[in-house]
Amino acid sequence: MDFSYFTPHREQAVPIYLQLYRRFRDAITEGKLNPGERVPSVRSLASELNLARGTVETAYQMLSSEGYFVPRGPAGTVVSPQLTRLRNVTTQPTSKNSGRQSQAELSGLKAFQPGLPALDAFPRKTWARLAGRQLRAMNATVMAYPDPIGYEPLRQAIAVYLGISRGIDCTHEQVFITTGYCNSLDLIFHTLLQVGDTGWFEEPGYLFARQYLEHTGMRLVPVPVDGEGLIVSAGLQNAADAHFAVVTPTHQSPLGVALSLPRRLALMEWASARQAWIIEDDYDSEFRYCGRPLPALKSLDQCGRVLYTGTFSKVLFPGLRLAYLVVPKKEIKKFRETANRLQCNSSFLTQATVTDFMVQGHFARHLRKMRTLYALRRRYLIDALVQVFGEKLQISPWANGLHVLVYLKTKHSDDILASLANEQGLAVQALSNWSMRKGSPSGLILGFTNLATPEQALENVLRLGKALGKF
Ligand SMILES: Cc1ncc(COP(=O)(O)O)c(C=O)c1O
Repeated sequence: MDFSYFTPHREQAVPIYLQLYRRFRDAITEGKLNPGERVPSVRSLASELNLARGTVETAYQMLSSEGYFVPRGPAGTVVSPQLTRLRNVTTQPTSKNSGRQSQAELSGLKAFQPGLPALDAFPRKTWARLAGRQLRAMNATVMAYPDPIGYEPLRQAIAVYLGISRGIDCTHEQVFITTGYCNSLDLIFHTLLQVGDTGWFEEPGYLFARQYLEHTGMRLVPVPVDGEGLIVSAGLQNAADAHFAVVTPTHQSPLGVALSLPRRLALMEWASARQAWIIEDDYDSEFRYCGRPLPALKSLDQCGRVLYTGTFSKVLFPGLRLAYLVVPKKEIKKFRETANRLQCNSSFLTQATVTDFMVQGHFARHLRKMRTLYALRRRYLIDALVQVFGEKLQISPWANGLHVLVYLKTKHSDDILASLANEQGLAVQALSNWSMRKGSPSGLILGFTNLATPEQALENVLRLGKALGKF
């Protein structure tokens, strides 16, 4: 095929990777490229059109993730042989992708809902196969009451995973299965803390953890966050005698920034001198779009002061209600006693299915796939925001996690804007609600994981613009 067909227009506002993506998609739907046909390599197309390789790569990734292309390693990339020619449906997604939006609508998903993984991309078939096998194999032992600290093979799989991917040296005896992050906090609270204890809490910080801790009678001291994460010196100044600190060191929630090494060391030093607890919330560390995930703070814990919490809500899906807590070795006995008392166990079937998913390699594959997909979907959202709002908003530069944070150039408060958007059926959150202090920065938290195509992102950002009257 003639390369010149793909030549992008540099003067157009539409980003070049998106123009390329659309050209290929149109070429397939119009029958200019046929199922099974080999497409030019990234290198040759980039050199022919005088484009950066990354630009072509991004367009190819989009086409692969939406089922138009199938990469075949050294044999090159081909148009998916499963596609029968799609005539006159230039804007329709492919068979693999079809029904995404309606699926989301049917399940009551609202656009921009933060904190959700891409529910359309979950490998349901694999999951159903593994769950079915566990269901059929159920015997009397697993039908009786489960171990309140969790299913041992799952705890073993988590310990192995944390060692490899988060740099945490722990045994399965230290791992406790819970039904979610607040359940992990509950276990910590009932084991190590008392009503009225003081804790540092990131400002801004995760709204639901703050609500839970305040409800249990903790006295939270807001500690500001800057470009290096929690400002440890401010914590020392405001409440050096605190009993605990709650931190999101890998991706500060909601700002996305990572806690710098000097601050990590300062925090550890304070905790060990004061014998305070650090509660590390590592909720979505897997989703970092440049470079490798940073090791967990827990990996530096020589003195046994860090309580590490992880969750399957972002890496699998939140409806599982499955999370875990890693406790220092010397605290295992106390935590076991609390778990026996609280009896908040997860279902055996869920735990056993997740175990198979992990040990059979599906988990690692799923994470790799999701990382690429989220980098694309994040870009769809950002491009649409730039196209619709232009200079009226500023996008936070920290590119991590499952949402984008935008700062608005307007005199209106963010919670008013969020309510306007949500009245129109969107699910936007106001940044100021995540702060304990008045006068905090205004911003909107926008989830991007379920925006499956550039068109869907644009359509929803246009809805947002309309709801906000573009300020
Ligand atoms: C900062 C933060 N921590 C933890 C969690 C996980 O909570 P759970 O395990 O209850 O789904 C979330 C979920 O959105 C979160 O945003």
